[in-house]
Amino acid sequence: MVRTPTPDDKFSFGLWTVGWAAQDQFGQATRPALDPTEYLPHLAEAGAWGVTFHDDDVVPFGADDATREKGFADFKKAADAAGLTIEMVTTNLFSHPVFKDGGFTANDRSVRRFGLRKVIRNVDLAASLGATTFVMWGGREGSEYDGAKDVNAALDRYREGVDTVAAYIKEQGYDLKIALEPKPNEPRGDILLPTVGHALGFIAELEHGDIVGLNPETGHEQMAGLNYTHGIAQALWADKLFHIDLNGQRSIKYDQDLVFGHGDLLSAFFTVDLIENGFPGGGPTYDGPRHFDYKPSRTEGFEGVWDSARANMETYLLLAEKARAYRADPEVQEALESSGVLELSQPTLGEGESLSDLLADRAAFEDFDADTVGERNAGFVHLNQLAIRHLIG
Ligand code: GCO
Ligand code: MN
Ligand code: MN
Repeated sequence: MVRTPTPDDKFSFGLWTVGWAAQDQFGQATRPALDPTEYLPHLAEAGAWGVTFHDDDVVPFGADDATREKGFADFKKAADAAGLTIEMVTTNLFSHPVFKDGGFTANDRSVRRFGLRKVIRNVDLAASLGATTFVMWGGREGSEYDGAKDVNAALDRYREGVDTVAAYIKEQGYDLKIALEPKPNEPRGDILLPTVGHALGFIAELEHGDIVGLNPETGHEQMAGLNYTHGIAQALWADKLFHIDLNGQRSIKYDQDLVFGHGDLLSAFFTVDLIENGFPGGGPTYDGPRHFDYKPSRTEGFEGVWDSARANMETYLLLAEKARAYRADPEVQEALESSGVLELSQPTLGEGESLSDLLADRAAFEDFDADTVGERNAGFVHLNQLAIRHLIG
């Protein structure tokens, strides 16, 4: 048995997760869509602390100003009543046909101008609701055909769009940061900024990159065959891990959006280990929301929706317990020591040592016994098995 989640755990959910009525490419919805406010007491009761949404999850695209105002006011009231924090807001630049070729990077300039207006309006909304992160997932920014997109121009337009929004946030003095969410493909054949690494490279080219970071999603990195834990690790290293989307994915295929841990469980263990315990040798840590972006499977009714929401948090808490025990285990500490994991924190050059000092150090090269060192047992398999023991032993 695992303890029930508390607000201190900072678990949050996208409204579009539990709110997904399960329509897909091949079939209609299998669950009714409730009023957006109806999901909130259930989320709170399950133990969530926060909720997030796209503009169009709460108020339909194209709604008039009065409907829009009332929709968001009602939603905020319901969130307050349920005790849920609106920690992040995002803009839907992907559902309406107008965005079929992108929002910020559509070939059609009028679409880009419309997209930018839609985003700016939602930045104001996010700030007014007290959200501190503004996620940008550019699902339609990309192409199916290489000849159909001038990637150089598209990246210029992407930068122009993100910089314009970031400059506006600063100008207004909003306490809001932008978090870009990479994804390799789906819905577009290829999406721009496909991985954490691509997005970090893009941020480095921004004028207002200081308030732009990342919202990496477990399944998105894994769809590209990449290691999610390494992805968030590099984002942390770069001080750019602003938010996370946790879920489950089983190998390189369509975006499964399974419950966290229901994909690659060992990888999920090390993700939680990093988030909860930090790097073994110290360094930047993450203290933002533990945000779930999953989909309750299409086979499930409402009972399954709430079971699956709870399952995300339960799995996270179970893994957190295991990860704490793993780090506290003297055998693990010894294995971390003997396999050199902790030695990696030691700089390669000594304090004050110059390259010429290194060149003059015969022990480093001329007298170095590469063959003997090359034969040393690293002990990484033993270390990994200790993790397995903690996980399922
Ligand atoms: C997906 C994405 C989205 C985004 C969401 C927030 O694959 O559909 O993960 O769910 O996270 O649009 O911007
Ligand atoms: Mn996804
Ligand atoms: Mn996501």
